[in-house]
Amino acid sequence: MRLKGRVALVTGAAMGIGKGIALLFAQQGARVIAADVNAQAGTATAEEIRATGAQCIFQRTDVSVEAEVKTAIAAGEKEFGHSVDVLANVAGIAHESPAHLLDLADWNRILSVNLTSMFLCAKHVLPGMMEAKRGSIVNITSVQGLFGFPGYPHYAASKGGVISLTRQMAREYAKHQIRVNCIAPGTVETPMNVQVLERVPNAAELRRAWDRMHPLGRIGQPIDVAWGALFLSCDESSWITGQCLSIDGGVSCSVLPE
Ligand SMILES: NC(=O)c1ccc[n+]([C@@H]2O[C@H](COP(=O)([O-])OP(=O)(O)OC[C@H]3O[C@@H](n4cnc5c(N)ncnc54)[C@H](O)[C@@H]3O)[C@@H](O)[C@H]2O)c1
Repeated sequence: MRLKGRVALVTGAAMGIGKGIALLFAQQGARVIAADVNAQAGTATAEEIRATGAQCIFQRTDVSVEAEVKTAIAAGEKEFGHSVDVLANVAGIAHESPAHLLDLADWNRILSVNLTSMFLCAKHVLPGMMEAKRGSIVNITSVQGLFGFPGYPHYAASKGGVISLTRQMAREYAKHQIRVNCIAPGTVETPMNVQVLERVPNAAELRRAWDRMHPLGRIGQPIDVAWGALFLSCDESSWITGQCLSIDGGVSCSVLPE
């Protein structure tokens, strides 16, 4: 068990990649604080974890609201009697619009949920980690934080910001033995992408195109990302900080399609 007894806060834990990480962390012995704005699905995740005999509480939290972040962390630390050892910043949203048609409100919403939230969650777990003189933070960015894709200027900016924030915080908190890394997934089969497929007339064709886009021949599953998050959170990666791990079926090493 790689995370035995550790208290892990996982945001976006109701579904998709966050749920995959919460399930794997719990299976590896972590006591999980599952935070999400979706109370129904988040409660179901916590129940699924507890049914395995692991410990998990769900906290309904909008991670872009500082007071809610503070409440979730305090509730989790009270429940488990220990400060947060591991933070997986996963919650995020996507929205499509080219820059010249993009409303400022949508720009601000994406930046707030995808980037500001990661600062807020880190801000409020760091004091406990500094006192414990250990901690690991894993932020989920995207290949869109590394490369340009049409239609997502605000999403790309938020994800690029996550990579810079990761490096800055890694440098600043290394002296406290707190590590900060990020993961850049390629396309992963989650509700976020299922919703994209539901909006297009040629869903089956687009789904096949996504598979072909990845040199390993398939899009990812939440568990593919979860294994990386587990590695970066546990002691086996204790000399790794400030890094961005691409988990993307090879898409980031392919400039042009075959
Ligand atoms: N799916 C992909 O292809 C992909 C690729 C690269 C990066 N990512 C990133 O991975 C992360 C997870 O994406 P996913 O595909 O699992 O998405 P998803 O939509 O399937 O799940 C996201 C979860 O975040 C929660 N959430 C949204 N806004 C929130 C808020 N304000 N406060 C708390 N919770 C909130 C949702 O309720 C949901 O449970 C996101 O940061 C996303 O940008 C996803």
